[in-house]
Amino acid sequence: MSTLQSVTSVVDLRAQVDTWRKAGESIAFVPTMGALHAGHHQLVRVACERADRIVVSVYVNPLQFGQGEDFEKYPRNIDADFEALAGLGVDVLWTPAESDIYPDGALRTELTDAGPIGDVWEGASRPGHFTGVLTVVKRLVEAVTPDYLVMGQKDAQQLWLVQTMLATQAPPIEVIPVATVRDEDAVALSSRNAYLSADERQSAQAIPRALGAAKTARTPESAVQAARDVLTSEPSLTLDYVALVDSTTFEEVSSDTFAGDAQLLIAVRVGGTRLIDNARLTFGQ
Ligand code: PAJ
Repeated sequence: MSTLQSVTSVVDLRAQVDTWRKAGESIAFVPTMGALHAGHHQLVRVACERADRIVVSVYVNPLQFGQGEDFEKYPRNIDADFEALAGLGVDVLWTPAESDIYPDGALRTELTDAGPIGDVWEGASRPGHFTGVLTVVKRLVEAVTPDYLVMGQKDAQQLWLVQTMLATQAPPIEVIPVATVRDEDAVALSSRNAYLSADERQSAQAIPRALGAAKTARTPESAVQAARDVLTSEPSLTLDYVALVDSTTFEEVSSDTFAGDAQLLIAVRVGGTRLIDNARLTFGQ
């Protein structure tokens, strides 16, 4: 197993990448904001199956947090992250400083617009969020120049937007989606679960229940209704949105006779914590 090397500057990162490239080695990249949990670990495992070398970044990107969101209090635990990644066989942990990512300052950087799909669902609730995500992913990827970018299906809209952004990239980067890792109570693992009290955690279990109810429905409308019914019967959850989108276009499924792959998206608030989750549903086959 390789020894984990921690780098900060893009120059050091590039030197390492160039060495690997000269040796003909392939590279998989897993971007994260740290506070790593078993969901992140799974991305790393998938990365290890694909490529010779693995780079994981930990960077809490200010551009993707709105005003009043949890940028300051977002969990940071770099020592534990390092330990976990060392045990998983990662080659480089890249922890850039803000000046490495945004040399002119975050507010003066050229933004990568997320387009119309960046303004709906998560984008409607968190204006500017996806432009912040795409801007940072583009910069991270430009520095790492990976063959593979490994990302979680847990953040379905983010995944779709990054895949769309990179679809025309040359040289090509293959985006590898990884299924959502869940806890024993079926709640999707998330760094933000750390904010939940025991009671809130109990309430959060309605989210996977709602996804399960939707999966048993026969039509798009009944799937959305089934999920909504489960969520609204849990008094301590505030519903932000339940939406069914076409997996290919990420546009809302507007016909009850829709056939094909769709994704049911859920966003709720439990106390002060916002949680998202999703499931893939197939209709008419
Ligand atoms: P973060 O929330 O740290 O997530 C990093 C990656 O882990 C994302 O691709 C996310 O989808 C994946 N992930 C999170 N929870 C997961 C789970 N339970 N199962 C499987 N994968 C999971 O997403 C971000 O960071 C940022 O927006 C980032 C892409 C790093 C840009 O700043």
